[in-house]
Amino acid sequence: MNKNYIIPNEWSIIENGFDAENVEASESLFSIGNGSMGQRANFEEDYSGSTFQGSYIGGIYYPDKTRVGWWKNGYPEYFAKVLNAPNWIGIHIAINGTKFDLNTCKISNFKRELNMKEGWLGRSFNAQLKTGEQIEITAKRFVSIDFNETGAIEYHIKALNFSGEITYAPYIDAGIENEDSNYDEFFWEILEIVEGENSGCILSKTLKTEFHVSTAMQIALALNNEEISVGQETKVEAKKLTYIYKINVKEGDIATIYKFGSYVSSLNYKNSALNEASLSNVQNATELGFQELLNTQIRAWANIWKTADIVIEGDVKAQQGIRFNIFQLNQTYLGTDARLNIGPKGFTGEKYGGSTYWDTEAYCIPFYMATKDDKVAKNLLLYRYNQLDKAIENAEKLGFKNGAALYPMVTMNGEECHNEWEITFEEIHRNGAMVYGIYNYVNYTQDFEYIPKNGLEVMIAIARFWHQRANFSEAKNKYVILGVTGPNEYENNINNNFYTNYLAKWCIEYTVDCLNRVKKEYTNDFDRVISKTNLTAQETSEWLKVADNMYFPFDEEKQLFLQQDGFLDKEIIPVNELPKSERPINQKWSWDRILRSCYIKQADVLQCFYFFENKFSTKELENHFDFYEPITVHESSLSPCVHAILAASIDRMPKAYEQYLRTARLDLDDYNHEVHEGCHITSMAGTWMSVVQGFGGMRVWEDGMLSFNPQIPAEWKSYSFTINFRGNIIKVYKSQTECKFFNESRNEVKMMVANNEVLIPSNEFVII
Ligand code: BGC
Repeated sequence: MNKNYIIPNEWSIIENGFDAENVEASESLFSIGNGSMGQRANFEEDYSGSTFQGSYIGGIYYPDKTRVGWWKNGYPEYFAKVLNAPNWIGIHIAINGTKFDLNTCKISNFKRELNMKEGWLGRSFNAQLKTGEQIEITAKRFVSIDFNETGAIEYHIKALNFSGEITYAPYIDAGIENEDSNYDEFFWEILEIVEGENSGCILSKTLKTEFHVSTAMQIALALNNEEISVGQETKVEAKKLTYIYKINVKEGDIATIYKFGSYVSSLNYKNSALNEASLSNVQNATELGFQELLNTQIRAWANIWKTADIVIEGDVKAQQGIRFNIFQLNQTYLGTDARLNIGPKGFTGEKYGGSTYWDTEAYCIPFYMATKDDKVAKNLLLYRYNQLDKAIENAEKLGFKNGAALYPMVTMNGEECHNEWEITFEEIHRNGAMVYGIYNYVNYTQDFEYIPKNGLEVMIAIARFWHQRANFSEAKNKYVILGVTGPNEYENNINNNFYTNYLAKWCIEYTVDCLNRVKKEYTNDFDRVISKTNLTAQETSEWLKVADNMYFPFDEEKQLFLQQDGFLDKEIIPVNELPKSERPINQKWSWDRILRSCYIKQADVLQCFYFFENKFSTKELENHFDFYEPITVHESSLSPCVHAILAASIDRMPKAYEQYLRTARLDLDDYNHEVHEGCHITSMAGTWMSVVQGFGGMRVWEDGMLSFNPQIPAEWKSYSFTINFRGNIIKVYKSQTECKFFNESRNEVKMMVANNEVLIPSNEFVII
């Protein structure tokens, strides 16, 4: 795949010129979505070249039977996969009877654009068929934010050098398979195909999970911008419904097809109402018309950008990178439905088939909290609250008792899907992130009430897990946590991972603090939670014994917390001394060599410093950053952002900027040679954090005070971002010479800027 073919532009992702080599990468990069559904940027017309077809519906999954070489007790039976759904975008095309296939034509002036400001995907190009006909194609497509079950396509063909016949054969194809199916199974059963005049639908259901989905289409045609109606032929096959329209054109004419599509599912309707609902969606869209629907789209995106945008002056590539990240996050999740979450690939691919990882709590919550209404972050927390029973069951399967919960590493419905022992059983730090997400939300929003109402039950179950997972070491006279994998997945089955031990202690202490406050301030909730969980004072004092006596590996001489017991036995050679040809090590080295090496995949001890920066001194942070960053290979997309933030916080701006570029353009420049599989959606929130928390220095700790410490990379003229802080909209602007805050809300807002208290009156600028 060619790198660097995306044309820099502030608001659009642009590809000029057709190169079959780039098709699959572009299918990922130009993906579209509306939080409820989304799809890769596959072509509407036939394409016989290499392509990865993908269309996905939020919350619709299939439990694919686990496939492992050597079964271990405790593995989950299946891996819930986001399902490749029926294709509603397809249009077969023929020119004077010859099938139009982009792969066999001569293509010129090819341009593809993902317009992020307005939320649509466009293409234009000229094609010459083998039979000599030349056509000019202009196509536009989007999935609607306002009508979130509906998508629309406008597709024009201009006859450049012939008079004759253009055939449009739009279809719905429900015979779709997942690329990542474990046993090459088909996941859907077709129940009904409904044909009609210009509109139709297919009702299908997923095997095992029995989700029912109706996929509809409705067609309108135009010739030179005048609506026309031509005879429709209908072809019904076992899994496919096709309508065929033949339009006579003269040289210079433009024949247009409008195709409206809809998915509706049993998540939101009774099975018996699905076909009616999908058909009514496409009918409404057709009546509204493509342009009017597009106008609603443009307004909806303008609204999203109002609080989400980051403006960078003086560096177009950086600007494009950050907007791409913000755009894709909003395409993946809008926070309106607590049953949905943010999959690491969103709607852009199938890898990491399960939907939810600790990425949500550790990386995505800060983004959604600050760019949207507080309710959105709360929905993300409620998603876990609603899955608490499953997390308790999950821990029981592994031998834990008394209501202890282990949240899954990967999940769709609360059950664990991951099936590698070193992750499923050992990467237990994820449980701590669940509590950190609550803590972060409460600090930022001051909505403490979430804890008595929902959060406390989750926290108690997790504190129980840590209490049972730690054991007392006679030799150390401390509690230890053995046999874990930290965030650095390049070391497994280690003992006393500093980050995990720290989180365990902190979770217990925070839970006990919250219990004490709830007992005083929310008596009814306290009684309800205590009676539901059978928690006793005796039990919490047992927890505290573990927390108070937790062991942390520490090297006195280096004044360093160690990633694990014995980390210093490793041969420590900085990454920059590794030959370039040996990187990425996960593609070039044997796994055993990686496991024995000192190389760190992503922030581990430093993830702890990021989460709890306020509990360490700057000197400690510098010391740990200087030891761990040089041996970190950043081979997880989640890595550079944490390092960018910490580097900025200790005044290492060149390092912060280097890490920022790596996160912001990870997919656009395909750093990890894998963008064809889909985009790295969850780490995109980390890119946003790199600007807001990294360069902007935004923090909100337990005291609830908002603080900033804006700095600017030498490469930029200025940057600005907006945050929603407890209903107040605050804009931060930083240039090389100036720093301004604008409070767009009705209340005055108190904050700390570079350690000085500042009061920003309502609707006023303050220049610092
Ligand atoms: C990372 C995990 C992450 C997962 C999904 C892995 O490569 O190591 O920390 O949760 O990707 O993004």
